[in-house]
Amino acid sequence: MDTKHLTAAHVSEAADVIRRGGLLGIPTETVYGLGANGLDPDAVAAIFAAKGRPQDNPLILHVPDESWLERYCEDIPAVAYELAGRFWPGPLTMILKRKSMVPDAVTAGLDTVGMRCPDCKVTRDIIAAADLPVAAPSGNASGRPSPTSAQAMLEDMEGKIDALVDDGPCSVGVESTIIDLTVAPPRLLRPGGVTLEELEEVLGEVAVDDAVRRLMAPGEQPRAPGMKYRHYAPKAPVTVVKGEARCTAAYIQEKINDFSGVICFDEYRDFFPGHPVQTIGPAADQAAQARRIFDALRAFDHLEVTDIWAQSPTDTGLGLAVTNRLNKAAGFHIIEV
Ligand code: TXA
Ligand code: MG
Repeated sequence: MDTKHLTAAHVSEAADVIRRGGLLGIPTETVYGLGANGLDPDAVAAIFAAKGRPQDNPLILHVPDESWLERYCEDIPAVAYELAGRFWPGPLTMILKRKSMVPDAVTAGLDTVGMRCPDCKVTRDIIAAADLPVAAPSGNASGRPSPTSAQAMLEDMEGKIDALVDDGPCSVGVESTIIDLTVAPPRLLRPGGVTLEELEEVLGEVAVDDAVRRLMAPGEQPRAPGMKYRHYAPKAPVTVVKGEARCTAAYIQEKINDFSGVICFDEYRDFFPGHPVQTIGPAADQAAQARRIFDALRAFDHLEVTDIWAQSPTDTGLGLAVTNRLNKAAGFHIIEV
């Protein structure tokens, strides 16, 4: 099929794609998504087919504001509205008990559903114009780094989707934070643009799912099914080096072979002459690192490298999300120096 390239000027055309049961690339502040009518099991099935996504991995429903929560969820705790008030629109997905009208195809048969209101006006306008919740995973082919620009999404999806709305590069760059509000204490299933520290300010105690910080053993089930897959992987193997930035740069300098690629902070750009280098922003700028990380990983697929070495950001604040994505790309192959 021919993928139509749309912009923010084409809200009603984009809403028509959703209403007709088609596949629409949507911009969000986190990453581009692969959207379809979240109430139509056939449209949802087409998302799984286009991505090559395993069927046991549920999708998030995107809505234009918190008043839509009660359409699709029940037993909504007061704290969900508190979180929505503080962080919506924004990079926070809340897991809530679903109503039966939400198809099994969206939730992979779970009795819960992920709800998110993206901080992207054109996408909220499209959803409101369609008057349908939009189910959307990240717009990458399954297993690839998530796309943080329309161009990156088209690399994976050109010809496989009806249309894509280009609204420029994503401002956050890592996917939304996922918090499960159906358990006590609430549980962080995936770190993202809203930090653990910010959630704790509203929720008090927050449990952190094991899948955030370590590799799941074969057969082990994380609460967010998607967290068990080796995600975000470039084609060459990645090693993450953790420690004080000057030490990790020196360690990588010593270990690389002639054909190694490097992911480093801006300050260390010149430490690796002759090597393909992707910088992810200054060592102290976590927002820049979040915006850059997926592009840095994707860039190596166009370069001939045997392996990739990466300086690890610190894992506090937004850094928990950045290190989670990088560590997953490395299959949690991490060296501490
Ligand atoms: O920022 C984002 O959240 C992006 C943009 C497009 O909104 N979307 C996104 O979707 O990252 P996806 O499908 O790539 O990741 C959704 C994650 C998966 O790990 C999935 O297993 C988990 O959310 N998930 C979805 N519904 C769930 C549920 N009911 N219970 C637990 N985990 C759930
Ligand atoms: Mg994804």
